[in-house]
Amino acid sequence: MFDVNTILKDFPILKKQVNGKPLVYFDNGATTQKPKTVIDCISKYYSEQNANIHRGVHTLSREATILFEEARKTVAHFINADENEIVFTSGTTDSINMVAGGFPFEKGSEIIITEMEHHSNILPWQLWCERNKGKLKIIPIHADGTLKIEELKDLISINTALIAVTHVSNTLGIINPVEEIVLIAKQHNIPVLIDGAQSVPHQKVDVKELDADFFVFSAHKLYAPTGVGVLWMKKKWMNSLQLTKAGGGTIKTVTFERTEYVEGPSKFEPGTPNIEGVLGLAEAIKYIDRVGMDNISKHEHTLLKYATECLNEFPEVEIYGNTTNKAAVISFNVKGAHPFDVGTLLDKYGVAVRTGHHCTQPLMSHFGIPGTVRVSFGMYNSIEEINIFIEALKKSIKMLS
Ligand SMILES: Cc1ncc(COP(=O)(O)O)c(C=O)c1O
Repeated sequence: MFDVNTILKDFPILKKQVNGKPLVYFDNGATTQKPKTVIDCISKYYSEQNANIHRGVHTLSREATILFEEARKTVAHFINADENEIVFTSGTTDSINMVAGGFPFEKGSEIIITEMEHHSNILPWQLWCERNKGKLKIIPIHADGTLKIEELKDLISINTALIAVTHVSNTLGIINPVEEIVLIAKQHNIPVLIDGAQSVPHQKVDVKELDADFFVFSAHKLYAPTGVGVLWMKKKWMNSLQLTKAGGGTIKTVTFERTEYVEGPSKFEPGTPNIEGVLGLAEAIKYIDRVGMDNISKHEHTLLKYATECLNEFPEVEIYGNTTNKAAVISFNVKGAHPFDVGTLLDKYGVAVRTGHHCTQPLMSHFGIPGTVRVSFGMYNSIEEINIFIEALKKSIKMLS
């Protein structure tokens, strides 16, 4: 049975007081807190298991290698992938850069993204376009923040090489119709990359069902350590995606004339990886599995619905992306107040929210605003915390008016 109070006890940092008030952590879109099992896993790794992997014949190294490869299986299972399709990276940003740098584009290729992308899913493509006379095309959004998916077909041309789209908007929380995008892309034989940074923490993801070509996410938004991410790609890309990084641990033979690389994910993982981070990610997934992703989704939707209803009661509050098909993220502004001031006052009441452009400046330009206040929920948040936030917001608005 899902019990938020039991879950709360598993996250040591959430006992903390901030500015003399119990911490209400609503900045999960930026990064999530870590359960004790994940913290213990990292500590255990360095106390009992630390060795470099893949190269050693000694026992400790062989054991660490087994743990690392077991973690790859756990991650694969989590998104219903094959373990040979999971590449460990340093995060979503790194994963996207690896695809942008290694994709077999032709000069003058066109790449389609959306107006709500995180900068990490804009800049790597923009760089490629600048250097290769390519063109970035943008799927616009409606006034309510949803995608104008009907415009996608018109954006596609014979030069379209790739569509890269966020699964869930980190700023608006809107869940994009990625299944429909993949379907349209398939009709034109165009590969699709899905940025899953904000979807994997909130909903079940099945990469086989999604049927895109690439799916990327960060561990730290999934109750796991920072500095680790995942690049899933369909097997066929393992051979055709070019290497953007090369080095130790990726080869069969090296001479000064020529190098023969190994097959599979290791080819894309040069150098010593973030071993403890990968083990921490597997441990976080085990924790999520024990709680149940369906339970997490259901709980977070209750929070989303309740918080949205409460915020809609304020005449001074405007929510951006005030639609229904959303993950547990709400962006809003208080009329006449700068988001930084609202965020700073909320912090005085122990409520941690994110303020600013959320690395989505083009989206901010669309709405004609400098930024928003964003609350984003995780599995450990509660209705009681939303009540504390709403009371703090009431007081903050009074002070600002
Ligand atoms: C949708 C989305 N994409 C990409 C990123 C970048 O993730 P990271 O900084 O972990 O690489 C984020 C981070 O907020 C995000 O929300």
